[in-house]
Amino acid sequence: MSSDKNYKTIKTGKAYILYDASIITEPSLLFFDRDYHTKQQAQQNNSTAEKSGGIGRARVAYFSQQGRSLVLKHYYRGGLVAALFKDRYLGLDIEKSRAFREWRLLKKMAGLGLPVPVAVAAHVEKAGLFYRADLVTEEIKQAQTLADVLSANNIDAGLWQNIGACIKRFHQHNVYHADLNARNILLAGDRREVFLIDFDNSDIRANTASWQAANLARLHRSLCKFKKNQPAFKFDDAGWAALLAGYDGAVA
Ligand SMILES: Nc1ncnc2c1ncn2[C@@H]1O[C@H](COP(=O)(O)OP(=O)(O)O)[C@@H](O)[C@H]1O
Ligand SMILES: [Mg+2]
Repeated sequence: MSSDKNYKTIKTGKAYILYDASIITEPSLLFFDRDYHTKQQAQQNNSTAEKSGGIGRARVAYFSQQGRSLVLKHYYRGGLVAALFKDRYLGLDIEKSRAFREWRLLKKMAGLGLPVPVAVAAHVEKAGLFYRADLVTEEIKQAQTLADVLSANNIDAGLWQNIGACIKRFHQHNVYHADLNARNILLAGDRREVFLIDFDNSDIRANTASWQAANLARLHRSLCKFKKNQPAFKFDDAGWAALLAGYDGAVA
């Protein structure tokens, strides 16, 4: 079992690594090197292990180590600052870094029994007032994003309800997801299991109704946008109504 005493922080040069020693042995800096994993993987399967995640933003690399399938995510800036800062964030306190915060939040949520990826390691490399960061999680096997599923398949009302119920469980534990969209919901296990991913900049908040509603509204906007861009995208009002019914009927 993973517990706090297995959470180790090490420092090598300007790099800080936080990892769970119950999952992996002390990682080296190569562990966070995307090019290294991509090359290794390409040699193994003659293909590229890199997949694009989001438009021009963070990309992930899939690799295996010590018998586990892992996903490496590099943090990239979004919005207008992206052009200028690309992957640099301002900050000196490593505990406040995007990677350490997401890693610790994932551990907290796993402890609450919420369906999230297992946090393996976080990496922060300091450079003056700035830092760059990475996160390694365990891969959720045979998973597809909700967006990918809907671009080719209808999902039934039961699954829409499960998605709503899943979101409700997070809200009942006051988890605020900063970017709840159709790419950050994964369906696994023959599409019956629902996971939320990508907790960058997310946190546990005071229990006021306003942010929960905003979270749902954001997901609705995301689904509508996919539908607008891909007319065949399988989303309609009935699906949304089923999701809300699942949200309203969920138990903790
Ligand atoms: N633990 C994981 N298991 C399976 N797939 C993952 C996992 N983490 C990320 N992914 C895939 O990588 C994509 C990008 O990761 P994400 O954490 O959403 O970062 P970002 O959206 O900032 O690029 C996801 O949409 C998902 O397809
Ligand atoms: Mg994402």
